[in-house]
Amino acid sequence: MRKPLSGQMSPMHELTTLRALAEQASRQAYAPYSKLRVGAALRSASGQVYAGCNVENASFTIGNCAERAAIAAAVQAEGQGFRLAAIAVTAFTADGSVLPISPCGACRQAMVEFGPQAAVTFRQPDGDWIDVDADALLPFRFILQQPQATNATPAPALAQSLPG
Ligand code: THU
Repeated sequence: MRKPLSGQMSPMHELTTLRALAEQASRQAYAPYSKLRVGAALRSASGQVYAGCNVENASFTIGNCAERAAIAAAVQAEGQGFRLAAIAVTAFTADGSVLPISPCGACRQAMVEFGPQAAVTFRQPDGDWIDVDADALLPFRFILQQPQATNATPAPALAQSLPG
């Protein structure tokens, strides 16, 4: 059983609240290209709530996801002490119907940066919500280690590795 993250709120109540706030955030989405409105709402370890929506652009690749927008808002407010406790993600199509989505790979990497044990809640293909730990969503994730901290064999000198 997951520990309540703030006050008297039970874990289930907390995730229900975050899901509703994510839905609210999705209404702010700027998604004229995909027409998919995504909202995310997170609770930080300090108990504060932050939300974000996707923001697209005519230059498609610079669009941003809802989850990372919420994380950016949290870091902006709390600084480097921010830790992610829980996050809900939800999406709606142009006609307003729910489209179950799970967080994309980049957002998973962003989540584990701030809370590998964070609860992540999103809809499964059948529409039911599922709650999983952030690190379970991204096995073998990228971790930045200093070179001296690894057992890696040094790369051969460039000249030796070139043919001829
Ligand atoms: N999107 C998110 O906001 N979060 C995700 O985890 C996956 C995708 C957005 C990006 C884009 O605006 C739209 O959904 C379609 O890919």
